[in-house]
Amino acid sequence: MRIAVAKETRDGESRVAMVPELVGKLTGLGYDVAVEPGAGLHALISDEEYTAAGAVVDVAAFEGADLVVSVQPLSIAQIRDLARGTTTISFLPVGQEQQTVVELRDAGVTSHAVELIPRISRAQSMDGLSSQALVAGYRCAIVAAGMLRRFFPLNMTAAGTVQAAEIVVLGAGVAGLQAIATAKRLGAVVRAYDVRAAAAEEIRSMGAKSIDLDLETLEGTGGYAREMTDDRAARQRQLLTPYIASADALITTAAVPGRPAPMLVTREMVEQMKPGSVVVDLAAESGGNVEGSVAGEVVRIGNAQVWGGRNVPSQMPGPASRLYAQNVVNLVTLMTAEDDEGNGVFSPDYADEILSGSCVTQDGRIVHEPTREAIEGTSEPEPTETPEPTAAAVPVEQPDVPYDQEADQ
Ligand SMILES: NC(=O)c1ccc[n+]([C@@H]2O[C@H](COP(=O)([O-])OP(=O)(O)OC[C@H]3O[C@@H](n4cnc5c(N)ncnc54)[C@H](O)[C@@H]3O)[C@@H](O)[C@H]2O)c1
Repeated sequence: MRIAVAKETRDGESRVAMVPELVGKLTGLGYDVAVEPGAGLHALISDEEYTAAGAVVDVAAFEGADLVVSVQPLSIAQIRDLARGTTTISFLPVGQEQQTVVELRDAGVTSHAVELIPRISRAQSMDGLSSQALVAGYRCAIVAAGMLRRFFPLNMTAAGTVQAAEIVVLGAGVAGLQAIATAKRLGAVVRAYDVRAAAAEEIRSMGAKSIDLDLETLEGTGGYAREMTDDRAARQRQLLTPYIASADALITTAAVPGRPAPMLVTREMVEQMKPGSVVVDLAAESGGNVEGSVAGEVVRIGNAQVWGGRNVPSQMPGPASRLYAQNVVNLVTLMTAEDDEGNGVFSPDYADEILSGSCVTQDGRIVHEPTREAIEGTSEPEPTETPEPTAAAVPVEQPDVPYDQEADQ
Protein backbone atom coordinates (compact mmCIF):
# COMPACT_ATOMS: atom_id res chain seq x y z
CA MET A 1 0.00 0.00 0.00
CA ARG A 2 1.48 3.27 -1.06
CA ILE A 3 0.60 6.89 -0.24
CA ALA A 4 2.09 9.48 -2.57
CA VAL A 5 2.68 13.06 -1.47
CA ALA A 6 2.35 15.44 -4.42
CA LYS A 7 4.56 18.42 -5.12
CA GLU A 8 2.13 21.32 -5.38
CA THR A 9 1.82 22.85 -8.84
CA ARG A 10 -0.40 25.91 -8.30
CA ASP A 11 1.18 29.37 -8.33
CA GLY A 12 1.87 30.75 -4.87
CA GLU A 13 1.15 27.49 -3.04
CA SER A 14 3.89 26.91 -0.45
CA ARG A 15 2.26 24.23 1.67
CA VAL A 16 2.74 20.47 1.41
CA ALA A 17 0.21 17.79 2.39
CA MET A 18 2.53 15.70 4.59
CA VAL A 19 5.34 16.63 6.97
CA PRO A 20 8.23 14.40 8.08
CA GLU A 21 7.12 14.25 11.71
CA LEU A 22 3.82 12.60 10.68
CA VAL A 23 5.23 10.15 8.11
CA GLY A 24 5.65 7.60 10.94
CA LYS A 25 1.89 7.71 11.59
CA LEU A 26 1.28 6.54 8.03
CA THR A 27 4.02 3.89 8.02
CA GLY A 28 2.62 2.74 11.38
CA LEU A 29 -0.71 2.11 9.66
CA GLY A 30 1.12 -0.10 7.15
CA TYR A 31 1.69 2.31 4.25
CA ASP A 32 4.80 3.09 2.24
CA VAL A 33 5.09 6.84 1.82
CA ALA A 34 6.52 8.21 -1.45
CA VAL A 35 7.18 11.93 -1.78
CA GLU A 36 7.72 13.79 -5.05
CA PRO A 37 11.16 15.45 -5.03
CA GLY A 38 11.05 19.03 -3.75
CA ALA A 39 7.49 18.64 -2.41
CA GLY A 40 8.36 20.34 0.88
CA LEU A 41 10.87 22.92 -0.31
CA HIS A 42 8.56 25.96 -0.08
CA ALA A 43 7.59 24.90 3.43
CA LEU A 44 11.33 24.69 4.23
CA ILE A 45 11.27 20.87 4.41
CA SER A 46 14.07 19.09 2.56
CA ASP A 47 13.87 15.76 0.74
CA GLU A 48 16.42 14.43 3.24
CA GLU A 49 14.05 15.09 6.14
CA TYR A 50 11.37 12.98 4.46
CA THR A 51 13.89 10.20 3.83
CA ALA A 52 15.10 10.30 7.44
CA ALA A 53 11.46 10.00 8.56
CA GLY A 54 11.02 6.76 6.60
CA ALA A 55 9.55 8.01 3.29
CA VAL A 56 11.08 7.49 -0.13
CA VAL A 57 11.62 10.48 -2.37
CA ASP A 58 10.73 9.38 -5.85
CA VAL A 59 10.00 11.15 -9.16
CA ALA A 60 7.60 8.31 -9.90
CA ALA A 61 5.88 8.66 -6.50
CA PHE A 62 2.40 8.28 -8.04
CA GLU A 63 3.27 4.89 -9.59
CA GLY A 64 1.42 2.15 -7.75
CA ALA A 65 -0.07 4.62 -5.23
CA ASP A 66 -3.41 3.70 -3.66
CA LEU A 67 -3.75 7.26 -2.41
CA VAL A 68 -2.31 10.62 -3.50
CA VAL A 69 -2.46 13.52 -1.05
CA SER A 70 -2.05 17.20 -1.90
CA VAL A 71 -3.16 20.59 -0.62
CA GLN A 72 -4.49 22.06 -3.87
CA PRO A 73 -6.24 19.90 -6.47
CA LEU A 74 -3.84 17.93 -8.65
CA SER A 75 -3.03 19.41 -12.05
CA ILE A 76 -4.62 17.88 -15.15
CA ALA A 77 -1.23 16.34 -16.05
CA GLN A 78 -0.90 14.79 -12.58
CA ILE A 79 -4.45 13.38 -12.77
CA ARG A 80 -3.73 11.81 -16.16
CA ASP A 81 -0.72 10.10 -14.54
CA LEU A 82 -2.92 8.24 -12.05
CA ALA A 83 -4.04 4.65 -12.44
CA ARG A 84 -7.81 4.13 -12.47
CA GLY A 85 -9.06 3.46 -8.95
CA THR A 86 -6.50 5.72 -7.26
CA THR A 87 -7.91 7.81 -4.41
CA THR A 88 -7.02 11.48 -3.88
CA ILE A 89 -7.38 13.79 -0.88
CA SER A 90 -7.02 17.55 -1.38
CA PHE A 91 -8.90 20.80 -1.19
CA LEU A 92 -11.18 20.73 -4.22
CA PRO A 93 -13.49 23.74 -4.53
CA VAL A 94 -15.97 21.97 -6.77
CA GLY A 95 -17.74 25.14 -7.96
CA GLN A 96 -14.54 26.65 -9.33
CA GLU A 97 -12.80 23.43 -10.36
CA GLN A 98 -15.28 21.86 -12.74
CA GLN A 99 -12.66 20.95 -15.31
CA THR A 100 -10.61 19.19 -12.61
CA VAL A 101 -13.71 17.28 -11.47
CA VAL A 102 -14.38 16.15 -15.05
CA GLU A 103 -10.76 14.98 -15.37
CA LEU A 104 -10.97 13.10 -12.06
CA ARG A 105 -14.22 11.46 -13.17
CA ASP A 106 -12.84 10.46 -16.55
CA ALA A 107 -9.60 9.14 -15.03
CA GLY A 108 -11.66 6.84 -12.77
CA VAL A 109 -10.18 8.49 -9.67
CA THR A 110 -11.95 8.46 -6.29
CA SER A 111 -11.49 12.06 -5.19
CA HIS A 112 -12.16 13.54 -1.75
CA ALA A 113 -12.65 17.27 -1.20
CA VAL A 114 -11.49 18.30 2.27
CA GLU A 115 -13.92 21.23 2.33
CA LEU A 116 -16.85 18.81 1.93
CA ILE A 117 -16.03 16.87 5.10
CA PRO A 118 -19.19 17.24 7.21
CA ARG A 119 -18.73 19.61 10.14
CA ILE A 120 -19.69 17.10 12.80
CA SER A 121 -17.70 16.74 16.00
CA ARG A 122 -16.27 13.33 14.95
CA ALA A 123 -14.77 15.02 11.89
CA GLN A 124 -13.19 17.98 13.67
CA SER A 125 -9.72 16.42 13.61
CA MET A 126 -9.98 16.03 9.81
CA ASP A 127 -11.37 19.49 9.18
CA GLY A 128 -8.87 21.22 6.91
CA LEU A 129 -11.06 24.31 6.60
CA SER A 130 -10.78 24.89 10.35
CA SER A 131 -7.07 24.17 10.62
CA GLN A 132 -6.23 26.52 7.77
CA ALA A 133 -8.69 29.20 8.98
CA LEU A 134 -6.86 29.18 12.29
CA VAL A 135 -3.57 29.96 10.51
CA ALA A 136 -5.24 32.64 8.36
CA GLY A 137 -6.87 34.32 11.35
CA TYR A 138 -3.59 34.53 13.24
CA ARG A 139 -1.82 35.85 10.17
CA CYS A 140 -4.46 38.57 9.67
CA ALA A 141 -3.88 39.99 13.12
CA ILE A 142 -0.11 39.90 12.65
CA VAL A 143 -0.43 41.64 9.26
CA ALA A 144 -2.59 44.35 10.86
CA ALA A 145 -0.05 44.78 13.68
CA GLY A 146 2.79 44.94 11.16
CA MET A 147 1.10 47.51 8.92
CA LEU A 148 -0.23 49.73 11.69
CA ARG A 149 2.38 52.30 12.57
CA ARG A 150 1.54 52.36 16.25
CA PHE A 151 1.52 50.07 19.31
CA PHE A 152 -1.17 47.46 19.78
CA PRO A 153 -0.87 47.51 23.63
CA LEU A 154 -1.33 50.33 26.09
CA ASN A 155 2.09 51.62 27.17
CA MET A 156 2.49 53.55 30.39
CA THR A 157 6.01 54.90 30.54
CA ALA A 158 7.97 57.66 32.24
CA ALA A 159 7.63 59.52 28.95
CA GLY A 160 3.85 59.32 29.09
CA THR A 161 1.03 56.98 28.18
CA VAL A 162 0.40 55.61 24.70
CA GLN A 163 -3.14 54.32 24.23
CA ALA A 164 -3.80 50.80 22.97
CA ALA A 165 -4.84 50.35 19.35
CA GLU A 166 -8.55 49.78 18.71
CA ILE A 167 -9.29 46.84 16.46
CA VAL A 168 -12.63 45.83 14.97
CA VAL A 169 -13.09 42.26 13.73
CA LEU A 170 -16.09 41.37 11.54
CA GLY A 171 -16.92 37.67 11.34
CA ALA A 172 -16.11 35.58 14.41
CA GLY A 173 -15.85 32.07 13.02
CA VAL A 174 -12.65 30.06 13.30
CA ALA A 175 -10.47 32.70 11.58
CA GLY A 176 -12.12 35.69 13.24
CA LEU A 177 -11.82 34.22 16.73
CA GLN A 178 -8.15 33.49 16.13
CA ALA A 179 -7.62 37.07 14.88
CA ILE A 180 -9.36 38.34 18.02
CA ALA A 181 -7.25 36.12 20.30
CA THR A 182 -4.04 37.21 18.59
CA ALA A 183 -4.87 40.93 18.68
CA LYS A 184 -5.82 40.57 22.36
CA ARG A 185 -2.52 38.83 23.15
CA LEU A 186 -0.76 41.79 21.55
CA GLY A 187 -2.68 44.06 23.90
CA ALA A 188 -5.14 45.77 21.56
CA VAL A 189 -8.68 46.75 22.51
CA VAL A 190 -10.80 44.47 20.33
CA ARG A 191 -14.46 44.75 19.35
CA ALA A 192 -16.07 42.16 17.12
CA TYR A 193 -19.36 41.44 15.38
CA ASP A 194 -20.88 38.33 13.86
CA VAL A 195 -24.42 37.60 12.68
CA ARG A 196 -24.67 34.27 14.55
CA ALA A 197 -26.24 34.36 18.03
CA ALA A 198 -23.62 32.01 19.52
CA ALA A 199 -20.81 34.26 18.34
CA ALA A 200 -21.37 36.99 20.97
CA GLU A 201 -20.44 34.61 23.81
CA GLU A 202 -17.47 33.24 21.82
CA ILE A 203 -16.22 36.79 21.21
CA ARG A 204 -16.46 37.61 24.91
CA SER A 205 -14.69 34.38 25.84
CA MET A 206 -11.69 35.64 23.85
CA GLY A 207 -11.62 38.78 25.98
CA ALA A 208 -13.05 41.04 23.27
CA LYS A 209 -16.16 43.21 23.38
CA SER A 210 -19.07 41.95 21.32
CA ILE A 211 -20.68 44.67 19.20
CA ASP A 212 -24.45 44.52 19.68
CA LEU A 213 -26.24 46.04 16.70
CA ASP A 214 -29.73 45.06 17.87
CA LEU A 215 -30.40 43.24 14.59
CA GLU A 216 -31.91 39.78 14.10
CA THR A 217 -29.31 37.01 14.15
CA LEU A 218 -28.79 34.91 11.03
CA GLU A 219 -28.32 31.24 11.84
CA GLY A 220 -28.08 28.80 8.95
CA THR A 221 -27.64 25.04 9.08
CA GLY A 222 -24.64 23.33 10.66
CA GLY A 223 -23.67 26.31 12.81
CA TYR A 224 -23.07 28.54 9.78
CA ALA A 225 -24.44 31.98 8.96
CA ARG A 226 -27.32 32.65 6.57
CA GLU A 227 -27.16 35.19 3.78
CA MET A 228 -28.53 38.66 4.60
CA THR A 229 -31.34 40.43 2.77
CA ASP A 230 -30.32 43.69 1.09
CA ASP A 231 -32.22 45.68 3.75
CA ARG A 232 -30.54 43.83 6.62
CA ALA A 233 -27.13 44.32 4.97
CA ALA A 234 -27.69 48.06 4.51
CA ARG A 235 -28.83 48.47 8.12
CA GLN A 236 -25.83 46.46 9.38
CA ARG A 237 -23.45 48.66 7.38
CA GLN A 238 -25.09 51.81 8.72
CA LEU A 239 -24.87 50.62 12.33
CA LEU A 240 -21.26 49.44 11.96
CA THR A 241 -20.05 52.71 10.43
CA PRO A 242 -19.17 54.54 13.69
CA TYR A 243 -17.29 51.49 15.04
CA ILE A 244 -15.21 51.27 11.87
CA ALA A 245 -14.63 55.03 11.69
CA SER A 246 -13.07 55.01 15.16
CA ALA A 247 -10.98 51.84 14.69
CA ASP A 248 -7.24 51.90 14.02
CA ALA A 249 -7.47 48.55 12.25
CA LEU A 250 -10.36 46.60 10.77
CA ILE A 251 -10.06 42.87 10.15
CA THR A 252 -12.82 41.14 8.15
CA THR A 253 -13.26 37.37 8.01
CA ALA A 254 -16.96 36.89 7.18
CA ALA A 255 -18.17 34.14 4.89
CA VAL A 256 -21.38 32.32 4.01
CA PRO A 257 -20.83 28.76 2.72
CA GLY A 258 -21.34 28.36 -1.01
CA ARG A 259 -21.87 32.10 -1.59
CA PRO A 260 -19.55 34.98 -2.46
CA ALA A 261 -18.32 36.76 0.68
CA PRO A 262 -20.87 39.28 2.03
CA MET A 263 -19.92 42.91 1.35
CA LEU A 264 -19.91 44.36 4.85
CA VAL A 265 -17.91 47.56 4.45
CA THR A 266 -18.34 50.05 1.64
CA ARG A 267 -15.65 52.30 0.25
CA GLU A 268 -17.42 55.25 1.93
CA MET A 269 -17.16 53.54 5.31
CA VAL A 270 -13.41 52.99 4.82
CA GLU A 271 -13.03 56.63 3.74
CA GLN A 272 -14.21 57.68 7.21
CA MET A 273 -11.29 55.90 8.91
CA LYS A 274 -8.43 57.90 10.47
CA PRO A 275 -5.08 58.64 8.79
CA GLY A 276 -2.77 55.65 9.18
CA SER A 277 -5.56 53.14 9.63
CA VAL A 278 -5.35 49.62 8.29
CA VAL A 279 -7.89 47.23 6.81
CA VAL A 280 -7.20 43.50 6.44
CA ASP A 281 -9.76 41.68 4.29
CA LEU A 282 -9.33 37.92 4.61
CA ALA A 283 -12.28 37.36 2.27
CA ALA A 284 -10.74 39.36 -0.61
CA GLU A 285 -10.30 36.22 -2.73
CA SER A 286 -13.95 35.20 -2.55
CA GLY A 287 -15.42 38.58 -3.44
CA GLY A 288 -14.29 40.61 -0.43
CA ASN A 289 -15.98 41.88 2.73
CA VAL A 290 -14.58 45.33 1.93
CA GLU A 291 -15.51 47.17 -1.24
CA GLY A 292 -12.38 47.83 -3.31
CA SER A 293 -10.06 45.31 -1.62
CA VAL A 294 -7.88 43.32 -4.04
CA ALA A 295 -6.63 39.81 -3.24
CA GLY A 296 -2.84 39.73 -2.97
CA GLU A 297 -2.47 43.53 -3.00
CA VAL A 298 -2.41 46.53 -0.71
CA VAL A 299 -4.57 49.36 -2.04
CA ARG A 300 -5.24 52.79 -0.59
CA ILE A 301 -8.81 53.83 0.11
CA GLY A 302 -9.14 57.25 1.73
CA ASN A 303 -6.75 57.29 4.67
CA ALA A 304 -6.53 53.51 4.97
CA GLN A 305 -4.16 50.89 3.59
CA VAL A 306 -6.33 47.96 2.57
CA TRP A 307 -4.64 44.54 2.49
CA GLY A 308 -6.47 41.84 0.51
CA GLY A 309 -5.71 38.27 1.59
CA ARG A 310 -4.67 35.72 -1.02
CA ASN A 311 -4.07 32.11 -0.01
CA VAL A 312 -3.26 33.39 3.47
CA PRO A 313 -2.52 29.99 5.13
CA SER A 314 0.22 29.49 2.54
CA GLN A 315 1.99 32.55 3.96
CA MET A 316 2.82 30.42 7.02
CA PRO A 317 3.55 27.19 5.13
CA GLY A 318 5.32 25.28 7.91
CA PRO A 319 2.59 25.32 10.57
CA ALA A 320 -0.20 25.30 7.97
CA SER A 321 1.30 22.13 6.42
CA ARG A 322 1.75 20.53 9.84
CA LEU A 323 -1.91 21.08 10.74
CA TYR A 324 -3.19 20.02 7.32
CA ALA A 325 -0.98 16.90 7.38
CA GLN A 326 -2.55 15.93 10.72
CA ASN A 327 -6.01 16.34 9.15
CA VAL A 328 -4.82 14.04 6.32
CA VAL A 329 -3.43 11.44 8.74
CA ASN A 330 -6.75 11.37 10.60
CA LEU A 331 -8.71 10.96 7.36
CA VAL A 332 -6.35 8.21 6.15
CA THR A 333 -6.76 6.45 9.51
CA LEU A 334 -10.52 6.48 8.93
CA MET A 335 -9.94 4.97 5.47
CA THR A 336 -7.79 2.15 6.86
CA ALA A 337 -9.19 -1.14 8.12
CA GLU A 338 -7.42 -4.12 9.70
CA ASP A 339 -7.18 -7.52 8.03
CA ASP A 340 -7.43 -10.80 9.96
CA GLU A 341 -3.72 -10.67 10.87
CA GLY A 342 -4.10 -7.15 12.27
CA ASN A 343 -2.36 -5.48 9.29
CA GLY A 344 -3.69 -2.18 7.99
CA VAL A 345 -5.47 -2.25 4.63
CA PHE A 346 -6.61 0.73 2.59
CA SER A 347 -10.34 0.06 2.61
CA PRO A 348 -12.54 3.18 2.87
CA ASP A 349 -16.05 2.44 4.11
CA TYR A 350 -18.44 4.60 2.12
CA ALA A 351 -21.24 3.93 4.58
CA ASP A 352 -19.38 6.46 6.76
CA GLU A 353 -20.87 9.94 6.21
CA ILE A 354 -17.45 11.57 6.47
CA LEU A 355 -16.18 9.57 3.48
CA SER A 356 -19.40 9.59 1.44
CA GLY A 357 -19.92 13.30 2.15
CA SER A 358 -16.44 14.33 1.02
CA CYS A 359 -16.30 12.05 -2.04
CA VAL A 360 -16.64 13.96 -5.33
CA THR A 361 -15.86 11.34 -8.02
CA GLN A 362 -15.77 7.56 -7.94
CA ASP A 363 -15.76 4.74 -10.52
CA GLY A 364 -16.01 7.15 -13.46
CA ARG A 365 -18.92 9.11 -11.96
CA ILE A 366 -19.46 12.37 -10.12
CA VAL A 367 -21.03 11.22 -6.86
CA HIS A 368 -21.34 14.62 -5.14
CA GLU A 369 -24.86 15.39 -6.30
CA PRO A 370 -24.77 19.25 -6.48
CA THR A 371 -21.53 19.04 -8.49
CA ARG A 372 -22.94 16.35 -10.77
CA GLU A 373 -26.00 18.49 -11.42
CA ALA A 374 -23.88 21.57 -12.13
CA ILE A 375 -21.66 19.68 -14.57
CA GLU A 376 -23.87 17.04 -16.11
CA GLY A 377 -27.37 18.47 -15.73
CA THR A 378 -30.25 17.07 -13.73
CA SER A 379 -30.82 13.55 -15.13
CA GLU A 380 -28.82 10.70 -13.58
CA PRO A 381 -26.26 9.58 -16.20
CA GLU A 382 -25.27 6.00 -17.01
CA PRO A 383 -21.97 5.04 -15.35
CA THR A 384 -19.11 5.48 -17.83
CA GLU A 385 -16.58 2.69 -18.20
CA THR A 386 -14.25 4.49 -20.58
CA PRO A 387 -12.11 7.51 -19.77
CA GLU A 388 -13.47 9.40 -22.83
CA PRO A 389 -15.14 12.74 -21.97
CA THR A 390 -18.91 12.61 -22.34
CA ALA A 391 -20.78 15.12 -24.51
CA ALA A 392 -22.17 16.79 -21.39
CA ALA A 393 -18.66 17.33 -20.07
CA VAL A 394 -17.38 19.21 -23.10
CA PRO A 395 -18.46 22.78 -22.19
CA VAL A 396 -16.76 22.71 -18.78
CA GLU A 397 -13.47 21.65 -20.29
CA GLN A 398 -12.99 25.30 -21.23
CA PRO A 399 -12.21 26.79 -17.84
CA ASP A 400 -12.92 30.41 -18.73
CA VAL A 401 -16.35 29.77 -20.23
CA PRO A 402 -19.09 29.52 -17.59
CA TYR A 403 -21.11 26.35 -18.01
CA ASP A 404 -24.64 27.08 -19.18
CA GLN A 405 -26.85 24.61 -17.31
CA GLU A 406 -30.04 25.92 -18.87
CA ALA A 407 -28.82 24.96 -22.32
CA ASP A 408 -28.83 21.33 -21.19
CA GLN A 409 -32.40 21.33 -19.91
N1 LIG B 1 -16.43 20.26 12.74
C1 LIG B 1 -17.17 21.18 13.36
O1 LIG B 1 -18.05 20.87 14.13
C2 LIG B 1 -16.94 22.63 13.05
C3 LIG B 1 -15.74 22.98 12.46
C4 LIG B 1 -15.49 24.32 12.18
C5 LIG B 1 -16.45 25.29 12.48
N2 LIG B 1 -17.61 24.93 13.04
C6 LIG B 1 -18.60 25.97 13.38
O2 LIG B 1 -19.06 26.62 12.20
C7 LIG B 1 -19.23 28.01 12.45
C8 LIG B 1 -18.57 28.90 11.38
O3 LIG B 1 -17.30 28.42 11.10
P1 LIG B 1 -16.35 29.06 10.00
O4 LIG B 1 -15.33 29.90 10.65
O5 LIG B 1 -15.86 27.99 9.11
O6 LIG B 1 -17.35 29.98 9.18
P2 LIG B 1 -17.17 30.71 7.79
O7 LIG B 1 -15.76 30.76 7.36
O8 LIG B 1 -18.21 30.16 6.87
O9 LIG B 1 -17.63 32.21 8.18
C9 LIG B 1 -16.86 33.03 9.04
C10 LIG B 1 -17.79 33.81 9.95
O10 LIG B 1 -18.44 34.86 9.22
C11 LIG B 1 -19.67 35.09 9.83
N3 LIG B 1 -20.56 35.91 8.98
C12 LIG B 1 -21.23 35.54 7.86
N4 LIG B 1 -21.92 36.58 7.36
C13 LIG B 1 -21.66 37.64 8.18
C14 LIG B 1 -22.09 38.99 8.19
N5 LIG B 1 -22.92 39.46 7.29
N6 LIG B 1 -21.64 39.80 9.17
C15 LIG B 1 -20.81 39.33 10.14
N7 LIG B 1 -20.36 38.06 10.17
C16 LIG B 1 -20.80 37.22 9.21
C17 LIG B 1 -20.17 33.69 10.10
O11 LIG B 1 -21.22 33.66 11.05
C18 LIG B 1 -18.90 32.99 10.59
O12 LIG B 1 -18.78 33.06 11.99
C19 LIG B 1 -18.69 28.25 13.83
O13 LIG B 1 -19.80 28.31 14.68
C20 LIG B 1 -17.92 27.03 14.19
O14 LIG B 1 -18.00 26.73 15.55
C21 LIG B 1 -17.89 23.63 13.34
